[in-house]
Amino acid sequence: MKQLQNKGVYGYGEKFTLGNPINTEAVIKQFDSLSVDKFPFEHKIENGKFSFEFNMNENDIVYGLGEAPRGINKRGWVYESFCADDPFHTETKSSLYAAHNFLMLSGEKNFGIFVDFPAKIRWDIGYSQTDKTVVTLNGEDFDIYILDGKKPLDIVHEFRKIIGKSYIPPFWAFGYQQSRWSYETNDAVDNVIDSYNKAQIPLDCVYLDIDYMERYKDFTVDSKKFPEFAEYVKQKKQQEIHLIPIIDAGVKKEDGYSVYEEGIKNEYFCKTKDGQTFEGGVWPGIVGFPDFMQKEVRSWFGSKYKTLTDMGIDGFWNDMNEPAIFYTQNGLDKALEKAEAAKGKNLDLCDFFALKDAFTGLSNNSEDYSSIYHNIDGKMVCHDRVHNIYGANMTKSAGEYFEKEFGKSKILMFSRASYVGAHRTSGIWFGDNHSWWSHILLNLKMLPSANMCGFLYCGADLGGFNENCTRDLVLRFLALGVFTPLMRNHSACGTRNQECYNFENTSDFKDIIEVRYRLIPYLYKTFCNASENDDMIFRPLSFDYPDDKIARECENQLMLGDECMICPVYEQNASGRYVYLPEDMTFVKLSGENVSTQPLEKGVHYIDVALNEVPLFIKKGKKVPLCKPAMRTSLLDTENLEFIG
Ligand code: GLC
Repeated sequence: MKQLQNKGVYGYGEKFTLGNPINTEAVIKQFDSLSVDKFPFEHKIENGKFSFEFNMNENDIVYGLGEAPRGINKRGWVYESFCADDPFHTETKSSLYAAHNFLMLSGEKNFGIFVDFPAKIRWDIGYSQTDKTVVTLNGEDFDIYILDGKKPLDIVHEFRKIIGKSYIPPFWAFGYQQSRWSYETNDAVDNVIDSYNKAQIPLDCVYLDIDYMERYKDFTVDSKKFPEFAEYVKQKKQQEIHLIPIIDAGVKKEDGYSVYEEGIKNEYFCKTKDGQTFEGGVWPGIVGFPDFMQKEVRSWFGSKYKTLTDMGIDGFWNDMNEPAIFYTQNGLDKALEKAEAAKGKNLDLCDFFALKDAFTGLSNNSEDYSSIYHNIDGKMVCHDRVHNIYGANMTKSAGEYFEKEFGKSKILMFSRASYVGAHRTSGIWFGDNHSWWSHILLNLKMLPSANMCGFLYCGADLGGFNENCTRDLVLRFLALGVFTPLMRNHSACGTRNQECYNFENTSDFKDIIEVRYRLIPYLYKTFCNASENDDMIFRPLSFDYPDDKIARECENQLMLGDECMICPVYEQNASGRYVYLPEDMTFVKLSGENVSTQPLEKGVHYIDVALNEVPLFIKKGKKVPLCKPAMRTSLLDTENLEFIG
């Protein structure tokens, strides 16, 4: 074990390098690297892993980790940076789909750390020892940036300056979006649009989930389900509706399928150690995984989106790019052998659960990941070393193509897996949440953390993805979604239909979604300013009121832009909620075209919020513009504004 020296001082925007780090392209600013013996934290290398630690005072807050489970304050849990396809976002999880390796301590000392390292990282933030954070990297080749600042927002600015400006989507991507796995045919899509029109509820986008494809093959459209697709897309454009197809990371193995055949011919897919194409099972059955670590593969895959953009498509969501692997043939064969051997046997506890685990452990199996190899600058590199940039590089391949071909802000693009750097060309959504009340709150907490890492265009599946929703849950979820840049209602196959028109009294839904359209000029401007100024759209209250104990601990309200505070209702059968005002503010209730305002003093208040109302707080002396609602973003009159506050 090599014990390195702890110098005990914080650097200012300093970069420390050890070994030969993989270039993740997360940072765009040039730095001179310092050697790790100057590293300001106590650190060591043990069993090929680099770890460092710092102490925390009792009242210190630890922010960061972007899209991750649990609270805004990350203290008291152990997290992992490991992009994972896990549809159960419970509080006992340690990672979700992203690896956003930015952490920030705020208290007497304030500093930020960005660990630019694409393999697994463990963040023990006061879990093993209450007053200590220990960060362990699964390797010894990395860049670590230490960022200084007087307060958290300064540090965020520093960080965002070094990672580059955030992606700005087209204006229409701020409209309301309806999704479901799946609207399988053009008739199903038409039914969604017609039903929204009939209910007079605004809508800008309808999503095409995996079933629009021919046998789940990327860049194909099933012509039986969507005959004359290009013509159909054009017709929808005339209705001012954008169709947004999904693209998955894996490319189906099928003779005669040009994308697969090109990939094989040019050796574009990931390999096994002995140079064979690595094969995994996902929706289409066996697939090849494009080796997005190679620039050439990125430009090849990126250019494939042309098949769909040529048909008029101008938005995409990239999925399954952690990458998700349901099984490998090898793993499946072993499990089937076990099942065969168990036939007719009297299985005791151990035998039965071992058999069960043989099947449940097939998906996203660590041995499978370890058997994938990438070609990085001519060298074979094991997937474990780059796992966390695989999905980000897929999305980069698309984003780079779109920017080259269409210019900035023309194509909507967001991804499930991500790493810092992908924020320059795309947004993210928070993956397969549940129709749980607790997920309204969880998704609220993710917003400022994602913003810290540059992901501004983001949002959760409103109404919840997994399992059955209830009418009131969808309404309350939407009332949070009114403020999130991505406002998309999405749900899994087999669950209750949760399009707004499927519930009683659709006018309540209309009231909520109209509020979104009224706020779009404000939200769009706030978004563009945040991108331009390396700022956050959503901030924890503690950023703005660091000396206010209640604000410092508040995790169920957020500051929005320079003007507002939001506080959604997230409990069932609640006709309102308690809210804490860190200063005097105007309480505004918005519902369709109705606006009511009431000045409230600093302190705790109970506010009544009906299911068709959106609560908003505006700071003293500030005003928020509202336009008239419209059925499409393109029909909004963004010139004639009414100011509230
Ligand atoms: C994944 C995605 C989800 C999508 C489904 C089918 O679970 O996260 O949004 O609907 O795959 O494509």
